[in-house]
Amino acid sequence: MQTLINKRILLGVTGGIAAYKSAELVRLLQEQGSEVRVVMTKAATEFITPLTLQALSQNPVYTELLDTESESAMSHITLARWADLVLISPATSNFIAQLAGGHANDLLTTICLAAQCPLAIAPAMNQAMWGNSSTKDNCKTLLERGLHFFGPADGLQACGEEGSGRLLDLESIVNGISSVFETGALTGKHVVITAGPTREAIDPVRFISNHSSGKQGYALAEAALEAGARVTLVSGPTNIEAPRQAQVIQVDSAEEMYVEVQKLILDTDIFIGVAAVADYRPKTVPERKIKKSEVASNATWLLELVRNRDILQSVSNSPNRPFTVGFAAETDNVIGNARDKLTHKNLDMIIANKVGDTTVGFNSDNNRTTVLWKDDQQELPIMSKAAVSSKIIALIAEAILKDKDG
Ligand code: PMT
Repeated sequence: MQTLINKRILLGVTGGIAAYKSAELVRLLQEQGSEVRVVMTKAATEFITPLTLQALSQNPVYTELLDTESESAMSHITLARWADLVLISPATSNFIAQLAGGHANDLLTTICLAAQCPLAIAPAMNQAMWGNSSTKDNCKTLLERGLHFFGPADGLQACGEEGSGRLLDLESIVNGISSVFETGALTGKHVVITAGPTREAIDPVRFISNHSSGKQGYALAEAALEAGARVTLVSGPTNIEAPRQAQVIQVDSAEEMYVEVQKLILDTDIFIGVAAVADYRPKTVPERKIKKSEVASNATWLLELVRNRDILQSVSNSPNRPFTVGFAAETDNVIGNARDKLTHKNLDMIIANKVGDTTVGFNSDNNRTTVLWKDDQQELPIMSKAAVSSKIIALIAEAILKDKDG
């Protein structure tokens, strides 16, 4: 189940007898490569101890909203931002009612209200409670709001009654979560993504580069795969693992990236330029290491640089161009500069992100972006690069569909 690799799942455990199964659920999610953090309601702690879930998840378990120590370590807002998906399992009738009512009276309900990522519910309760029209109305409300429901299952219940209300078997819950990430919105499309930094050689041992880690580009590759696309990553040097199903072409310099992208253009439906491509490279690169004594003066070394070709612009200006998306890394006038690039580089969409702040942008796990296109823009709050990527892929799929219909 490739889709759960590196996903951050926030597991919310509420107070029902099926809470004991959350220990196994944590393990199953981790086996699929997900990172799991657990939040428990007070009632849940009567059924299974936080210590058990802490030991299994290898992360602190959060239970209190108004606890200064845990809030300063990871606040409810930080937890909500951290998650790629919030799964409530088991979800009691009471918790479902609170969610439907928009309550924020404990840590878990507050996180659910603050979360921008998908929310999934695995209900577990007595069959009569599940069949009650209040519960049905609450579930209808949550379904209409786009929450995902897994189960409940039918069968013998802990209370000795038989009927619908048992927690769905854990493998099916894990499969369900995986399918939330698999949207199929780009099935049949070939997506080419540039990612990471480029290295511009000065001599055989020195180069000019930047702080790009490749995280944002690789997360987009993952999101495009989850949307059913075939993905080619043209990547500068990074230390992170590329999604297994992506075809990866490794390059070093902007010029190499340019050449590899040209070979792919005719077979590309969507091009996303995430790479932090060096705008300039040293004019000449000697075959042997430059000695300090060779440069004009020991105190200063003037390097002559020449402009690299613009990869993104070459794609957007190609005949039968693919849907072309750029990124704009800006330190100031973020939106204005990004909109200029959208126009000058002849793009269908551009994603603006502020750089120069260590919590977002270069090398961080989170990003705060604004997606801009010709006649509109959408600001996305700070969230994980995986969650940002799912949103961007969904917006691209929507724009392509609109183009086709319009
Ligand atoms: O890799 P991470 O650590 O996760 O960081 C992600 C990121 C900050 C690198 C990423 O989100 C980002 O902003 N990428 C674009 C960085 C950049 O080079 O921005 P730019 O404003 O200089 O370039 C604008 C666009 O033109 C980009 O899509 C860039 O890929 C493209 N470009 C630029 C120059 C060039 N010669 N060829 C290009 O294709």
